[in-house]
Amino acid sequence: MLELQGATVRYGEGAPALDGLDLTAEAGSITAVVGGNGAGKTTLMRTLSGVLGHHRGRLVGGEVTFEGRSLAGVRAEAIVRRGIAHIPEGRRVFTDLTVEENLVAGAATRRGRSDGQISRIYDMFPVLAERRRQRAVLLSGGEQQMLAIGRGLMSEPILLLLDEPTLGLAPKIVAQIGEIVQHIREAGTSVLLVEQNAAMALAIADQGFVLGQGRVVLGGSAAALRATNEVQQMYLGGSAGDDEQRLDRHDGVLERWSA
Ligand SMILES: Nc1ncnc2c1ncn2[C@@H]1O[C@H](COP(=O)(O)OP(=O)(O)OP(=O)(O)O)[C@@H](O)[C@H]1O
Ligand SMILES: [Mg+2]
Repeated sequence: MLELQGATVRYGEGAPALDGLDLTAEAGSITAVVGGNGAGKTTLMRTLSGVLGHHRGRLVGGEVTFEGRSLAGVRAEAIVRRGIAHIPEGRRVFTDLTVEENLVAGAATRRGRSDGQISRIYDMFPVLAERRRQRAVLLSGGEQQMLAIGRGLMSEPILLLLDEPTLGLAPKIVAQIGEIVQHIREAGTSVLLVEQNAAMALAIADQGFVLGQGRVVLGGSAAALRATNEVQQMYLGGSAGDDEQRLDRHDGVLERWSA
């Protein structure tokens, strides 16, 4: 469904933020992308949603295709119409607008107003239904994140891009967001989930990629990634024990890229 081959992105003249990135995401799945600060996660999302130019970034090499068609040079609005919705870092909502006005603003980018979609979103997020007439500034951080996700869903995307939806949220809310992401996938929307919270992301994902310095350093099934020592030590705060044995058990699932 989504494929990047050798994608290379630069901001200005510095080192590339994506440096020959190879990554795929399958229809109907949750794909996790984890990695430390500056690894290129947000740049990946911007590349897919057509907003690189807003940040003075450029795709300077490689191929990016969604459903068999290139995304290179396609404007953000056209990408939304093709079925990709991007929820950026920092849960940006229009704080002066009400919850419902925020949702309606999300629909304006694709198929016009969709009352049916609003009610589906209220079913998914009862807390938004209760607060539909309140201004978004009054919502908690977790509720604002739910509103940002709900607004993205208003365009009825095929693929939802979520950039660190759990950042700064309490563990209980993190778990709720994880459940919501699974629900979204079950309702038929594929999800590309960028997270520094690798434990949560790899617990709900089907497959995952570890990014470092703009490249994929490790990729495979989420289960195989969870079991590797590297991921355990870097992101999950523990040791997987016998790495070789675990790799055997997931024989062929895990692929290593040379860094
Ligand atoms: N607008 C920009 N102009 C110049 N350089 C940028 C810009 N945005 C990101 N970069 C650089 O690109 C690289 C990748 O950054 P990016 O924001 O994609 O990483 P990230 O994995 O999302 O990090 P974080 O976990 O901190 O959000 C970093 O070296 C960063 O400094
Ligand atoms: Mg980021």
